[in-house]
Amino acid sequence: MNPDEMKKTAAKAALEYVESGAVVGVGTGSTINHFINFLGTIKGKIEGAVSSSESSTARLKALNIPVYDLNTVSDLPVYIDGADESNHYLQLIKGGGGALTREKIITAVSKKFVCIADQSKLVDILGKFPLPVEVIPMARSYVAREIVKMGGEPVYRENFITDNGNQILDIHGLEIMESAKLEAQLNNITGVVTNGLFAMKPANVLILGTPEGAKTIYPK
Ligand code: A5P
Repeated sequence: MNPDEMKKTAAKAALEYVESGAVVGVGTGSTINHFINFLGTIKGKIEGAVSSSESSTARLKALNIPVYDLNTVSDLPVYIDGADESNHYLQLIKGGGGALTREKIITAVSKKFVCIADQSKLVDILGKFPLPVEVIPMARSYVAREIVKMGGEPVYRENFITDNGNQILDIHGLEIMESAKLEAQLNNITGVVTNGLFAMKPANVLILGTPEGAKTIYPK
């Protein structure tokens, strides 16, 4: 089974977390694209969706799934999204697709975060995948210097602008032992919008696609 088939397996299994009559939080990425397609098959069951990116919004709308402005939604039972890495506490690195800020906002609003991924995303220590940091463009060099002082190697993601009009620095060379502490430290640098560590509010459930089927993992 190839990684894309494993992503599809995880995406299908996530349908059981979708609540009837509710608005569903929908993330971004190749795994979520499968989920959006599955969601289309049960769209009559839900009120609609909130979305973490312009690209997911376009896909949802193409399937005639209503997409709401998050400001109009006070109750969000579940948010479903992928990840670039998860440790066994279900703390995540996200933002490979650059949608980390809107993903973190929807995570904050949601009651339950169900993460879906192929089995390669589960790791013992976060950091092999470069950690994305969204920055206000004029602060990029300053933020990069501050990250170097912290021991990271920031790389400017060239030719990429986020849906919020900002830029991304990807931090290489990290072995993240204290995820929540690093998440807070990075967010505290002036000019950082947010970073791709989801440690202070990790996922509640991780569904991994494996050749043997979907495997559900709870935080250690
Ligand atoms: C988008 O910004 C990311 O957070 C994605 O959720 C993450 O990169 C996972 O993407 P894939 O599902 O494409 O692996």
